[in-house]
Amino acid sequence: MDKIIIRGGRPLSGRIPISGAKNAALTLMPAAILTEEPLTLRNLPRLADIDTFSHLLNQHGVSLTLEGSRPEEFGRVMTLKASRITNTVAPYDIVRRMRASVLVLGPLLARCGEATVSLPGGCAIGTRPIDLHLKGLETLGARIELTQGYVKAIAPDGLKGGVVRFPFVSVGATENVLMAATLAHGETVIENAAREPEIVDLAHCLQAMGAEIDGIGTERLVVQGKTRLHGATYAVMADRIEAGSYACAAAITGGELELLGIQANTLGAVIEAFDQAGVAVTPTREGLKVARRNGELRGISVTTAPYPGFPTDMQAQFMAMLALADGASVLTETIFENRYMHVPELARMGADIQVRGRSAFVRGVPQLTGAPVMATDLRASMSLVLAGLAAQGETTVNRIYHLDRGYERLEEKLSAVGADIERVSAG
Ligand code: UD1
Repeated sequence: MDKIIIRGGRPLSGRIPISGAKNAALTLMPAAILTEEPLTLRNLPRLADIDTFSHLLNQHGVSLTLEGSRPEEFGRVMTLKASRITNTVAPYDIVRRMRASVLVLGPLLARCGEATVSLPGGCAIGTRPIDLHLKGLETLGARIELTQGYVKAIAPDGLKGGVVRFPFVSVGATENVLMAATLAHGETVIENAAREPEIVDLAHCLQAMGAEIDGIGTERLVVQGKTRLHGATYAVMADRIEAGSYACAAAITGGELELLGIQANTLGAVIEAFDQAGVAVTPTREGLKVARRNGELRGISVTTAPYPGFPTDMQAQFMAMLALADGASVLTETIFENRYMHVPELARMGADIQVRGRSAFVRGVPQLTGAPVMATDLRASMSLVLAGLAAQGETTVNRIYHLDRGYERLEEKLSAVGADIERVSAG
C-alpha cells in the first residue's frame, strides 16, 4: 500500500490551484439520472471518490465520457447520459466504500418510481444514519421498506410534492429530497434545509436543467415539480475544504500561499477563525493569499456547525495547526460523534490534546516531531500531513487511500510550493 513521506520544517511559498469540489461533484453526478439528456460537468476533480461514483452510475445504465483526462490537466469534463436507467439497485459493495452513493436514491425514485439502495452501514466518523433522507422521501409519497440491509423505495404513481421539515440540518438529506422534488407532481417545500455552498451549486445546476427552485441559499427551499428536466453544461464550484486545508499548510509552516480559483464567500467562518488565530486571508485577483499576520499563531475556540458555521470538515486540519499555536485552544465538534481519531496520532507527534466529551482541549507546543502515523478518515489524514509539514524530521503517513479520495494530486501540489513530500509505493 502507498505511503506519503514528509520531511518537515520548510515554510511553503507559491501558488496552488484549487480543484473542483468533491462534495459538490458527488451530488451533481447523480443529478444526471433526472434526465435522459446529457449533463456535462466541467471542473471535475480527479479523485478516487469520483471514479467510484462513476462506476456506480455506470451500473445503473448511465454512460460517462471524460475529456481532459491527460495527467497534467486539472479540471476534467465529464458528460453523463442517462438515456435509459437499466438497473435501480445500488449494491452494498459500492455503497459501503462511499457513503455519498446514497444520493442516487432520490433521483432514481423520481425518474423510475423505484430504487433499492444498500444501507451505508457504520462509518469511521460515527454511525451516520439516513433516516432523514427516508422520511423526506416518504413525505413525497414514497413507500419505503428495509430488507436485508437494503432500502427499497417505491412510488409507482410518481412522487407528489409536500412539506418536508427536517428536525436538524442534513446536507445529504437536503440534496436527496431536492433532487427528487424537481420531478415530483406539484410544489415541495423543504424547511430547515442545509445551506452549504455545495447545495447552492446543486440547485443552480438543477435550474440549468430546467428545475424551478426558489429560496436557494436559504433554509427554506421551494420547488415546483416538472414532468421532465433537460440536459445542461455546468462547472463544479471550487473546493472550499481543499482551499482551507492548504491555507492551514501556509499557516502551520509559517509560509505564504496563494490559492487559485477560490473566493472568500464560501469560506466565511473559516476565514474568521484564521483571523482570530493570527492568519490573514486576503483576496487577490486570482484567488486568496494566506500568511500569518505577524509571526505567531494564537490559540482560539472553534465550534463546528452547519453552514454558515465552521465546517466539521475543517476541524482536524485546524487542530493540527492549533497544536503549534501560542496558548490554548478548544475545538468542539457538534456534527459527528467520534471525529477525533486524529488526536492520538497528533499526540504521537508531540501535540498536547485532551478530549473531553465533544470538546478537544489543545495546549500549543513549540515543536512537533515526525513519526509514522495512520489515519482512519479523509480530513484526519490531511491533519497528519499538515502536522508532518511543520514537524521536525520525517513523518510517514500510512493508509493514504483516504487522501486520494478527497485531495487531487496532493503531493504534486505541495512539492510545487516547496514541501519535501513524496509518495512511496509499497508493493
Ligand atoms: C456531508 C459531506 C461531509 C460533511 C457533512 C457535514 C458529502 C459527500 N459529504 O455529509 O463531508 O462532513 O456533510 O457538513 O457532501 N444524520 C442523521 N440522519 C440522516 C442524515 C444525517 O442523523 O438521515 C446526521 C449525521 O449522522 C450527522 C449529521 O446528521 O451527525 C449531519 O450529517 P449530514 O449533513 O447529512 O452529512 P452528510 O451529508 O453525510
